[in-house]
Amino acid sequence: MFKELPRWLKLALVASVVLSWVPLALVARARFATSTKPRLHVVFDMDNQPRFKAQQVNPLFADGREARPPVPGTVPFSPVAPDPVVETGKRAGEWVAAVPLKVDLALVRRGKDRYHIYCEPCHGVAGYGDGPVAKRADQLQEGTWTQPASFHTDLVRGRPPGQLFNTVTNGIRNMPPYGPQIPVRDRWAIVTYIRALQLSRNARLEDVPPELVSKLQ
Ligand code: HEC
Repeated sequence: MFKELPRWLKLALVASVVLSWVPLALVARARFATSTKPRLHVVFDMDNQPRFKAQQVNPLFADGREARPPVPGTVPFSPVAPDPVVETGKRAGEWVAAVPLKVDLALVRRGKDRYHIYCEPCHGVAGYGDGPVAKRADQLQEGTWTQPASFHTDLVRGRPPGQLFNTVTNGIRNMPPYGPQIPVRDRWAIVTYIRALQLSRNARLEDVPPELVSKLQ
């Protein structure tokens, strides 16, 4: 049947089949080739808008500064006035010996919650340094892993809360800092939960409130 068609129609058919490969070839090329030019953007929506980058010059203002100073009379507002003791865990150069916030069940619960997100992967559910990441690293035996510390050693039990807070904030030796991820109050909450974990493994009868002792015996 194809043979009976006029020559020009045959040519046109062949040409259109070949041309239909062009978009495919372009798509394939776009998928694998890299380019520094932004990709073709058909519907702009609000994806691209004129803006200034930090520290650029903005000729709109007499001083040419893109970042504008606060309006005169602006009052700085912070929900909690930053207290250096709360921020650093240190008072007069010494680690604080008590958590400088009101410690209640809600704070410890918050700490438990945050602990399971940020610390448990390495330190383990009960704080023995046997979290899933630590176990996996043990399996891999790559020789680059430092065992996360157990909290149930005399060394860590003896660390004042201020120092534990600082360990979370800035990390210690091979442990990375978590200050950038965890807000100050949550870091203290985690400290209270570490204390709770330590007590759960190392408590004396005298630590139990007298009205609960009879329940234990
Ligand atoms: C990526 C794994 C990892 C995570 C996550 C992690 N740690 Fe650690 N942590 C370590 C390692 C490793 C050490 C031991 C560091 C060393 O000895 O070099 C350590 C040590 C410690 C110590 C003992 C420090 C001392 O006084 O000697 C404390 C306390 C501690 N971590 C608390 C935390 C808390 C709280 C969190 C969650 C906010 C946390 N860690 C999250 C790996 C981790």
